Amino acid sequence: MRQAGRYMAEYREIRKKRTLLEICKSPELALEVTLQPVRALEVDAAILFADILLPLEPMGAPFEFAAGEGPVIHHPVRDRAGVERLRVIEPEEGLGYVLEAVRLIRKELDGKTPLIGFAGAPFTLASYLIEGGKSTNYALTKCMMYNEPETWHALMQKFAEVVRRYLHAQIDAGAQAVQLFDSWVGALSPEDYREYILPHVKYILESVEKANVPVIHFGTGTGSLLELQKEAGGSVIGVDWRVPLDQAISRLGPGVAVQGNLDPLLMFANDELLEKRVKSIVDRGRQAAGHIFNLGHGILPEMSLEKVQSVARWVHEHGKRGA
Ligand code: CP3
Repeated sequence: MRQAGRYMAEYREIRKKRTLLEICKSPELALEVTLQPVRALEVDAAILFADILLPLEPMGAPFEFAAGEGPVIHHPVRDRAGVERLRVIEPEEGLGYVLEAVRLIRKELDGKTPLIGFAGAPFTLASYLIEGGKSTNYALTKCMMYNEPETWHALMQKFAEVVRRYLHAQIDAGAQAVQLFDSWVGALSPEDYREYILPHVKYILESVEKANVPVIHFGTGTGSLLELQKEAGGSVIGVDWRVPLDQAISRLGPGVAVQGNLDPLLMFANDELLEKRVKSIVDRGRQAAGHIFNLGHGILPEMSLEKVQSVARWVHEHGKRGA
C-alpha cells in the first residue's frame, strides 16, 4: 500500500510537472509510477497507481488534492438531497482510465509480478465526501450515521454498488488480487460497525469473492473490529501494528490469511531495531494460513528509499528460512 510516492526521487520528478490526478488519469504515467517501486524494491506484487477517491468525481462530487492539505471535496454531501443526486456509475464510463491502466500494467509485467487493484470502502469514502476532506473525529459523518440512518444507508448502498462493480471491473481488466481500503473505520465501536457498516461491506465482498482472486480487507485502528471485519469478508485481513500479529491470527482463527503489520514509523529507527521488528513480524506470521508482509499504514514522504529496500530484503531473507 502506498508503495509508490514522494519518498522516491523518480516519483517527485514526475510530480514536478503533473498533479496527482493527472498521473492517475494518464494510463502511461500510472504505468510508469506503478513500476517504480517494483523496480526499486523488488517487492512481490505491484500496486496499481490510483487513489481511493477517484470514483467521487464521476459520481458527481469533484475534488482536488491541495498541496499540504490532502484531498478537498468541492461540495461536501451532508443531506438526503445530496445523496439522491449521487450517480451509481458503471466503471467503464467514469473510471475507464483506471481500467486502461490495469490492462497496460498487466501487459508490461508480463506474468512476472502480480498486480493488486483496489478501492475505498464505503465508510472511508463517505468520511471524505461528508467532511469535505480529512478529519480527526468524523463528527459530521457520525452525525449523519446516528441521526439520519436512512440517508446514511442510502449513501452506503450507493458506494457499495459502485465499489462492487469497480472491483469486478479491475479484476476483469487483469488485477490478480484486490484490496478494499477501510482506512478510517477504526473510529467506530463494534456495535456501530455491525449496524452501520458490516452489511454494506459484506455486500461488496460476497460478490467480489466469487471472482476467485485473493481479496484483502484493510483497516487501521481496527483492534476491536477484526472479528467483525472477517465476518464482513475477505480472504486476507489487514492488521495494523497496534495488535501483535500472532494474537490477531489466533483471534481470526484457522484458514484466514493476514496482512501486516510494521509500524510505519519504525522506518525511522536504526537498522538493528528495524531488522529485529521485521523478523519478529515474519515469525509471528508463520502461524497464519498466509501472510503478506507490509507496513500497517503508508510510507511517509520523508522515509529513506534505502531503508524501505532493506526491509524488503530482510522480509525475503527471513521469510525463506524455515518457511
Ligand atoms: O503505490 C501505491 O500504494 C498506489 C497508490 C495509492 C495512492 N493512494 C496514491 C496516492 C493508494 C493505494 C492510495 C490509497 C488511498 N488514498 C487511501 C487508502 C490507504 C491509506 O493510506 O489509508 C486513502 C485514505 C487515500 C486518500 C488520500 N490520497 C489522501 C488522504 C492523500 C493525501 C496524503 C498526503 O500525504 O498528502 C492522498 C494522496 C495520495 N494518493 C498520494 C499518493 C502517492 C500522495 C502523494 C502525492 O501527492 O503525490
